[in-house]
Amino acid sequence: MKRFFSVADVPDVPDLVKEALLLKKDPYGQFIGNNKTIGLVFFNPSLRTRLSSQKAAFHLGCDLWVLNIDHDSWKIEMSDGTMMENTQEHIKEAIEVIGLYCDILGVRTFPGLKNKQNDYQEVLFKKIERYSRVPVVSLESATRHPLQSLADAMTIEELRPSQKPIKVVLSWAPHPKALPHSVPNSFLEWISKLRNTDLIITHPKGYELDKEFAKDLHITYDQEEAFREADFIYAKNWSAYNDYGQILCKDSRWMITSKKMALTNHAKFMHCLPVRRNIVVEDAVLDADTSVVLQQAQNRIFAAQAVFKRMLINKCHAAYR
Ligand code: CP
Repeated sequence: MKRFFSVADVPDVPDLVKEALLLKKDPYGQFIGNNKTIGLVFFNPSLRTRLSSQKAAFHLGCDLWVLNIDHDSWKIEMSDGTMMENTQEHIKEAIEVIGLYCDILGVRTFPGLKNKQNDYQEVLFKKIERYSRVPVVSLESATRHPLQSLADAMTIEELRPSQKPIKVVLSWAPHPKALPHSVPNSFLEWISKLRNTDLIITHPKGYELDKEFAKDLHITYDQEEAFREADFIYAKNWSAYNDYGQILCKDSRWMITSKKMALTNHAKFMHCLPVRRNIVVEDAVLDADTSVVLQQAQNRIFAAQAVFKRMLINKCHAAYR
């Protein structure tokens, strides 16, 4: 694997999920990272992505460093052809230099949510890929969060009662700030690759996601209808796609509550975290035995480990040719 940006970079999703679940059973069994370094560059904050990647690298025997662009480095110029009066270092030199110090580069680049075209063309992520001489892993970009979705797919596969069809609901929930589409977009991309999985989306009118991700999936504006007989409820807020980056609804009736969870087939509650309690989801749901948010967070380690492992093996093969 030379790139990990979207589901398109993975030939067989169930196979990668299986591999990650095997690593969970035997985390230190593939100690292939000797003399290798993973670099993580964060343009935005993180708790889980940063720490789970560190743990994954530790399992593989890799060295790993982290650079928080906002706090730890020079002020970076992103635009080309600019007279750099207020910025000290151009993204071109920064990434070229960073690539000299690692074998795999992970980057987090959130969208601005102002310019749809800029965000959806993944201008910053693609620029980083262009300047990086080492393989790049997305730690969440403007439109996708593939490591999260791989961990979510692992969690669903671990918990599904059997190979019988299951109903998985992606539910919009309220939030005071405008949030990106990366988690819901990726969730749809990845979970639709799982076998025997009926995927449904529920959100208020106006929150339709990009057709590239929503495709012809069933959408209902009736949250309670969506919850009936569901096996998994995946809650997430996102801002509008058509009215790009806007908050169109703050209606607290969309919050995930125990009453709504009671309509489901004893569904597991999922969220990528961090989550705002009693705005997105009621305490009682998050603290119930059916909440699997910690299992998702734990699976982030093995999702990252499976991806790093594939990249390291690919690199080793290249070196032998
Ligand atoms: N879910 C997730 O990516 O968490 P962080 O933003 O804390 O990394």
